[in-house]
Amino acid sequence: MLGLKLPTDPRWVNIVEKNIEDILTDHAYCEQKAASTAISLIVSFPEYTELVQEMIDLVEEEMSHFKMVHDRILENGWTLGRDRKDDYVIALIKFFPKGGSRTTQLVHRLLYAALIEARSCERFRLLSEELEDQKLAKFYRKLMISEAGHYTMFLNFARKYGDRKEVDEKWEALLNHEAGIMKDLGNRETIHG
Ligand SMILES: [Fe+2]
Ligand SMILES: [Fe+2]
Repeated sequence: MLGLKLPTDPRWVNIVEKNIEDILTDHAYCEQKAASTAISLIVSFPEYTELVQEMIDLVEEEMSHFKMVHDRILENGWTLGRDRKDDYVIALIKFFPKGGSRTTQLVHRLLYAALIEARSCERFRLLSEELEDQKLAKFYRKLMISEAGHYTMFLNFARKYGDRKEVDEKWEALLNHEAGIMKDLGNRETIHG
């Protein structure tokens, strides 16, 4: 349902289980960045009223996810660490050429956001199914459901604001590009890398 071309190797969960503090830190920043992305879309594309309305709700939701993850970090007796650069996202957002019309730029940003949500959703599903810590597994199940909704929302906005056929072609090409990135990364204690 997510359209991803390369499923995550289930052994990734074993890496995660040995590094819960690292994964929660990385995850907390993913939620914070999702909120920042929503704010940035509002600032860059204020005339897209429906998008702005959805992004307002999304900022709140992603920050509530950030709080959920942050609370888990505190529950474990840890303190939120520093952010690290996200090699996955850096590689992903190099795909579409810069420039073009405002609509083109908007479509590209919506497709990047849709893909990041889709991969997060896939990884949260894996964690919800494979983690031995049942409390943490349940936590990821809840998040998985909301990220699936975000993936659909971003993709639908891209299809609504752009030319449907062109958007679908770009989405397909981006999915292939992402699979290539996951082949090179995909085995570290980070949500995406
Ligand atoms: Fe989230
Ligand atoms: Fe999200």
